[in-house]
Amino acid sequence: MAKDLIKQQETDTLSTTQVLDDGIHHVNNPVLDLPEIVKNYLGPVAGFHQENNNYYFTDGGASVEIKVVSDEIIRVRLAPKSQFLEDFSYAVPQSDQHVAVYTFEEDQEAYRVKTNTVTCVIRKADFLIAFEDREGKEYNKDYSPMHWEENPDFGGYYVYCTKVAQANEAFYGLGDKPTHLNVRGRRFANWNSDTYSFQFNQDPLYRSIPFYIGLHEGDAYGIFFDNTFKTYFDFAAEAYDQTSFWSEGGELQYYYIHGPHMMDVVKRYHSITGTHYLPPLWALGFHQCRWSYYPESKVRDLARNFRERQIPCDAIYLDIDYMDGYRCFTWNKRYFPDPKKMIKELADDGFHTVVIIDPGIKVDENYWVFKEGKKNRYFCRRGDDYFMEGYVWPGRCQFPDFTNQEVREWWGGLFKGLVEAGVAGVWNDMNEPAVFGRGTFPNDVRHNFDGYRGSHRKAHNVYGMQMVRATYEGLKNLFQKKRPFTITRAAYAGTQRYASVWTGDNVATWDHLRLGALQLQRLSVSGMPFCGTDIGGFSGEPDAELFTRWIQFGVFSPFMRAHSAGDTAEREPWSFGPDYEALNRKFIELRYQLLPYIYSVFWEHTKYGFPILRPITMVEQRLDTNIPREEEFCFGDKLLVSPVLYQGQQRKMVYLPAGGWYYYWDDSSFEGGKEHEVNTPMDEMPLFVRAGTVLPEYPVMQHVYEKKIESLKLLVYYTAQEANSYMYEDHGDTFAYEQQIYLEKKFVVKGAAKSLKITQYIDGLYSERYDTYDLHLVALPFKVSRVMVDDKPAIATQDNQGRYVVKVPKDFKNIIVT
Ligand code: GLC
Repeated sequence: MAKDLIKQQETDTLSTTQVLDDGIHHVNNPVLDLPEIVKNYLGPVAGFHQENNNYYFTDGGASVEIKVVSDEIIRVRLAPKSQFLEDFSYAVPQSDQHVAVYTFEEDQEAYRVKTNTVTCVIRKADFLIAFEDREGKEYNKDYSPMHWEENPDFGGYYVYCTKVAQANEAFYGLGDKPTHLNVRGRRFANWNSDTYSFQFNQDPLYRSIPFYIGLHEGDAYGIFFDNTFKTYFDFAAEAYDQTSFWSEGGELQYYYIHGPHMMDVVKRYHSITGTHYLPPLWALGFHQCRWSYYPESKVRDLARNFRERQIPCDAIYLDIDYMDGYRCFTWNKRYFPDPKKMIKELADDGFHTVVIIDPGIKVDENYWVFKEGKKNRYFCRRGDDYFMEGYVWPGRCQFPDFTNQEVREWWGGLFKGLVEAGVAGVWNDMNEPAVFGRGTFPNDVRHNFDGYRGSHRKAHNVYGMQMVRATYEGLKNLFQKKRPFTITRAAYAGTQRYASVWTGDNVATWDHLRLGALQLQRLSVSGMPFCGTDIGGFSGEPDAELFTRWIQFGVFSPFMRAHSAGDTAEREPWSFGPDYEALNRKFIELRYQLLPYIYSVFWEHTKYGFPILRPITMVEQRLDTNIPREEEFCFGDKLLVSPVLYQGQQRKMVYLPAGGWYYYWDDSSFEGGKEHEVNTPMDEMPLFVRAGTVLPEYPVMQHVYEKKIESLKLLVYYTAQEANSYMYEDHGDTFAYEQQIYLEKKFVVKGAAKSLKITQYIDGLYSERYDTYDLHLVALPFKVSRVMVDDKPAIATQDNQGRYVVKVPKDFKNIIVT
C-alpha cells in the first residue's frame, strides 16, 4: 500500500513530456501537446482531377468537388479529409440532369468549370469560389474559403461557407420564417419546432428549407444548402458585407442555381427537388376544420349548415377526437359509430373527409399498431437502445422511424382501414416531431436514414417529411388511380413532392394575418407552393371583420382552410351574424368561380415549377423600389391581389406592375408601373386582372363537382398589345395527366384601336364535357359591329355589366371582333 502511494507521488511529479515520452497514458494528466480545435480554412489549390462531370480540387488535405448538375446548376461539396460522404439526399432524388456542354479551363490564377450559362471559378491562390454568367458578371462569390471545425462530441465537423453580401443585395426564401420578405440583416436557424402561438421574428418554426435567393442589381441566383442537420443562415447580420451558412454536422454541400430571373431560380430549384403533384380539384376548394368536430351529429350538422346556407365547401376535417384515446388508425365508436356510412353520406353531399394522423403511437400492449410496430422493431431507439418514449396527445408514446423504407411501407399500409372507410385526405401533424415537455426527441435517438444511419441530429429535420412521404405513398397506393390529398406541419426541402403545408398554430390577430401574407409568399418562393394559414387564427378570438378579411386573403392562399383551437368560440363562415355570413359567402364563392384559373396555375407549378404566389419583386425584379413591397402579390401570372390587412382600413395604396390592369369588381382600367389608391369596403378587396388575360370562370358551385359545366365562361380582358393566357383541364382527380390525358390551351389576345383578335391553340388528349365557351369581352374600347368565329359570323349580346357576350365552339381557332 505504502509502496503504491510512493509510486503515485512519483508519477505526480513527472512532467507531461516525461509521461508522453514513457508512452504512459494518464487520463487525468494535463496533455499540453494535443492540437487545439480550431477552424480550418481551405488553403491554396494544390491539384485537381476530373471524373465525368465532377471536378475535384485539393489543397493537399481537404478536397472540393464541383459537379455540373445542369446548364444552370452547379453543386459544390467539401470533404475536410478528402473523404466525401456517399451521395444521398432526401431533398434531391436525382442530382444528374441533362447538361448540354461543359468545358474546363485553367490559367495562372484560376480553374474555370463552364456550362453554356454559368462559369464556376476556383481561384488557385486562396481556393475562393465564384459564379459568373457567360459575360463574366459575378453573381456570387466566397468571402473566405470554405471552412470547418471538428466536433469532438459527435464526430464529424461543423461546416461553414461565407459569401460576399453585395451592397444592396436582397435575400429571399428560407421557408416559413415569420419576418419580412427580404431577410437581409437577419440570422436564422433551421430546426423543426412545434411553436404554438409563434410571434413575429420567432425562429425557428416548423420547417427547414435551407434555400435562398440573392437579388442584386436586378439579377438573381439561388443557393440550396442541402444539409439536414441544424443549419444556420446569416444574411449580412453579423457583418454587413458577408452572408454565411453553416451546419452542426453533415457535409458542406450546396447547389448554386443560376437566374437571372427569380422565377427561373425557383423553377430550377424545383427541377432538382421536385414539384408538388397536381392536387385533386376538390383540394383547391374551401376546407372547414376545427379541433374538433365530434360527435357525428356535430359533423352532419356542420355539413347541413354549409349546404342550407349555400356556402361552398369541399372538405371537412376530423381532428384528434375522432380517434379512440388518440390512438392513430382507430375510431372512437361512441362518437362515430359508423364512420363509413357517415363519410359516404358526406361524400354524396359533395364533402371530402380529411383526418388527422400524428406520429406518436400510444404505448399500449392491446393496441394493434403498437404491437405491430414493437414486434417489427419499427420504433425509434435511444443511443443506449432504450425506446424513444415521450408524451403526446395519447399519453406515453413511441415513434416510428420514418427514415426506414420498411417502416414507411408499413405506415402507408396502415391507412387501409381509413381509406376503406372513405377518407379522402390525411393531415399529418406534430411531426417536427413534437414531444410534450421537452419539445422534441433528444439528439441521441438513432435513425436508419435509409441505410445511411444517423442520430436525431441528422434526422430531425427530415422526420416530418419522411412521415408525410410514407402517408402520401401509402394513400397513393391504396387509392390506385385517385390523387390523394395530404398536408403536413413539419417539412424539409423536397416535401412538396408529397404534401401541402399550413403555417401551424397562429393567432387570431391582425398581426398574424399580416404574418400569414408574408409567410405564404415566402413559402411559395422557397419551393413550398401549396400552402395556407389557419384562416381566422388558430388560438384566440377573431372579430367578424378580421375573420372576413382573412377569408378574403384565403381566397388567394393556395390552400384555403379555416381552422381553430378547441377552446375558442365556434368559428364557421356564419358565426359572425348574417351580414358577415353574406360577405364570407361572396368570397368563398369567388374562390369557386376562379377555380379553373387556380387549377391552371397549379398545373404550371406541377409541370414547369413556377411558384403560385409571386411577390412583386419577383414580378418586376429589376426595380429596387419593389423590394419593400410586401402586401401586394400575384397569384399566377394574371391576378394581382393586395389583401386588406389592417383593422378598419377604408382604402389602401396598391402598386401595379408595368402594363395595363383592370379592377376585377367593376372592369375599370388602371395603368401599371405606379401606385393607386383603392377603396376597400368590406365587400371588396383589391383584385386586379392583367390586360389581355383570358380568365376562365366556373359558375358558383357548392362543391367542385356539383354542376356540369354547360358552357365555360371566359372573361377576355382587352389589351392594345398581344398577350398569352393558359388554361389547363383534366379529370380533376386521377393521375391520367401523367399519360397526357389533359388539355393545355393557349389563348393569344391581340388588340388594336378598333379590333380584337383571339386565337386558341389546344394540346392534349382530354375531352372536356362542355361544347361551347361564353366569351365575355371586357372593356372593349369600341362598339362591336361584327364578330367572326373561324370565318363565320357570330352574334354578340351584352350582359348586365355592359360586356359583349359571344357563344363560340370550344375548339375555335380564330375570333375577330371589330
Ligand atoms: C396542433 C396542430 C393543430 C391541431 C392540434 C390538435 O396544435 O397544429 O392544428 O388542431 O394540434 O390536433
